[in-house]
Amino acid sequence: MNIRKWLLSMVLPPPIPLRHRVYSMSIPPDASRSEPSERLVDLALKAAVRARNLKIEGAEERNMGRINKWPGEHYRMLAALVAELQAKTIVEIGTYQGRASFAMRSQLPLDGRLVSFDVVPWTSVQPVLLKREDFADGRMRQEIADLRDFNVMKRHADLLQAADFILVDAAKDGEMEQLFINNFRRLGLPKGPIVMFDDIHEWKMLKIWHELPEAKLDISSFAHWAGSGLVDWPRSAVS
Ligand SMILES: C[S@@+](CC[C@H](N)C(=O)[O-])C[C@H]1O[C@@H](n2cnc3c(N)ncnc32)[C@H](O)[C@@H]1O
Repeated sequence: MNIRKWLLSMVLPPPIPLRHRVYSMSIPPDASRSEPSERLVDLALKAAVRARNLKIEGAEERNMGRINKWPGEHYRMLAALVAELQAKTIVEIGTYQGRASFAMRSQLPLDGRLVSFDVVPWTSVQPVLLKREDFADGRMRQEIADLRDFNVMKRHADLLQAADFILVDAAKDGEMEQLFINNFRRLGLPKGPIVMFDDIHEWKMLKIWHELPEAKLDISSFAHWAGSGLVDWPRSAVS
């Protein structure tokens, strides 16, 4: 345990003894810089209904944990959102073991594409859920690129500007996600995608999430226990 975590557990001893926990703060809606849009409320309700009966096939065989655990984990909700949006172009930032990629790919249409960005190739992550066969039909690929750099993001402009759904699941260090947001604004996302941020209840994500001026909705109870937020990204002009 690092010193920061140890100090926290001294000052704020957990009311329930848990190994894996996230320190957070409950923030009333009037402190938020934006409201949910009708589109987000409709989408979240429909996706939650769909997630209830959706099973991510093949997940158990890979023996990588609670992919089909719902509510609590976000994978079934991610798959349901892809299906509900009829998303053809999906972008993920943060591949890691590929759990979310695997879940979203399960609902990707035959003419769809899923591009997952990371700074580390999935082939060097252990253990990993993904297998080479998941990439065989060409609908899914990984890009090794750091989208914090606007010039790097610009190289992927055609893809990002065609995105229907973007999952942001990277470092949550209080800075990285803000840089992606700034770059999305600077680039312009003319399709007005749904952007989902993971772990919005984590301490270092609270400020970024609550200060987002775009229409947004916290859907954590139907997605990830550490916080899931949907943003209705405005159809912005291309830079
Ligand atoms: C929480 S994990 C992602 C989990 C993944 N979505 C899943 O479902 O298995 C975070 C990932 O973000 C990656 N990451 C860190 N910095 C990044 C960056 N600048 N761009 C893209 N990915 C980054 C890390 O290498 C790590 O693999």
